Amino acid sequence: MKKEYIKPYIKRQSAGVMNKFGVTYNKGHREDIEGIPIGRFTDEFGSPVFVLSEKVIRERYRKIYSYFSSKYPKAKMSWSYKTNYLGAVCSILHQEGETAEVVSDFEYEKARSLGVPGNRIIYNGPYKPLDSLVTAFTDGAMVNLDNFDEIIKAEEAAKKVGKKVSVGIRVNMDTGVYPQWSRFGFPIENNGAFNAVKRISHSEHLHLEGIHCHIGTFMMDPNAYKEAVKKVVQLMRKIEHEFEITISYLDFGGGFPSNNKLKGTYLPPEVAVQPVENFIDAVADTLLDELAPDEYPDVYLETGRAIVDEAGWLISTVDAVKRLPDGTKSYIIDAGVNLLYTSAWYNYKVEIDRELHGAYENSILYGPLCMNIDVVAESAFLPPLPKGTRIILSPMGAYNVTQWMQFIRYRPAVAMIMEDGKLEQIRRAEKLEDITGPEFVPDKLRKFNL
Ligand SMILES: Cc1ncc(COP(=O)(O)O)c(C=O)c1O
Repeated sequence: MKKEYIKPYIKRQSAGVMNKFGVTYNKGHREDIEGIPIGRFTDEFGSPVFVLSEKVIRERYRKIYSYFSSKYPKAKMSWSYKTNYLGAVCSILHQEGETAEVVSDFEYEKARSLGVPGNRIIYNGPYKPLDSLVTAFTDGAMVNLDNFDEIIKAEEAAKKVGKKVSVGIRVNMDTGVYPQWSRFGFPIENNGAFNAVKRISHSEHLHLEGIHCHIGTFMMDPNAYKEAVKKVVQLMRKIEHEFEITISYLDFGGGFPSNNKLKGTYLPPEVAVQPVENFIDAVADTLLDELAPDEYPDVYLETGRAIVDEAGWLISTVDAVKRLPDGTKSYIIDAGVNLLYTSAWYNYKVEIDRELHGAYENSILYGPLCMNIDVVAESAFLPPLPKGTRIILSPMGAYNVTQWMQFIRYRPAVAMIMEDGKLEQIRRAEKLEDITGPEFVPDKLRKFNL
């Protein structure tokens, strides 16, 4: 039989060769995670599957907290639920001593349902329904107010509770990092924050107790935290002086980077991202410089991704191999942007589950969705992958299992490797009833004549 003619093509290989650091980011294979063979995760829980490590979460937390508390005597940490609010993850961090930092009524209820007392919850965020404020004040939670309308809402809630309640304010400021995060809280620079305090100081229902800020996300420059601490301490002094109010806590939010690779960065994260200690130094050293020991308030950090991102992986499977008309090698894998919200801004580390030989080429990893935007990796430097190859994407612990969507496909299981090496399922894969359960189909729509 005559062979089919395939037009030849030449494809320039432009990435993946040695760069000046002598490494190729996306090259490597991994046969296990903490000693558990990759195949065991997919055999037990299906593919794709998220994997989290109890050990890494505890280690990362302890590293950060012990360094922070060794420098600043009244160091506190509060777990940012939005970063990863799986019950098992929050419970590990609460066991470690972190309180809960929540930004919605749902997250508040979740923290309470896990057993966190209300007075161990920090309630942040730009929108807090009235009922949830009533609950939070009744429970004695630390509530940080975002805007003037929320001050009025908080007064209404306090009236319902029937007592004067303590609040904090969220502030924003220029820390030298642009674009500035100015949409949350009251601005320090134009006196917005000071005026908010003035307003609260005249309130019969509210009493100011703390100042909170969260200056941005994946901050690359520790100096921004120095600026934040200086400006917040200055504001604290001004408030204490003018209103004779004692501020009992400062809360510098989160924003420390993880070792993920931001899109558009040339350097590998091990080089581009400063160690977390540098960020803690910026906060703690500035506090020690600015404050006298008798005025130390409690100081909270709400570090999210820097604790949990590197504790997570996503294992996915190659379902099909395709060459695009321009010759680009591509693969369809069973995890897509529905599970990987963070793929919009990270180039994840891509590893395969075995050593494979053959010419490496820049390959595209497409997800399983019937959507053009479903691209998990635009250019992964990979050898030829047979169907069935497992692909391990990391770091995955932050923001994916909270921002994932139920879109087109079910959300998969999440497994946790426990400290003793046991493997536990901490969230099962979704089923049809999970999605149709809350739906109602009116009677007249129940019959089809197809
Ligand atoms: C108020 C607040 N605190 C803490 C965090 C956690 O931030 P990260 O995960 O960057 O440390 C966030 C995230 O956006 C936040 O909005």
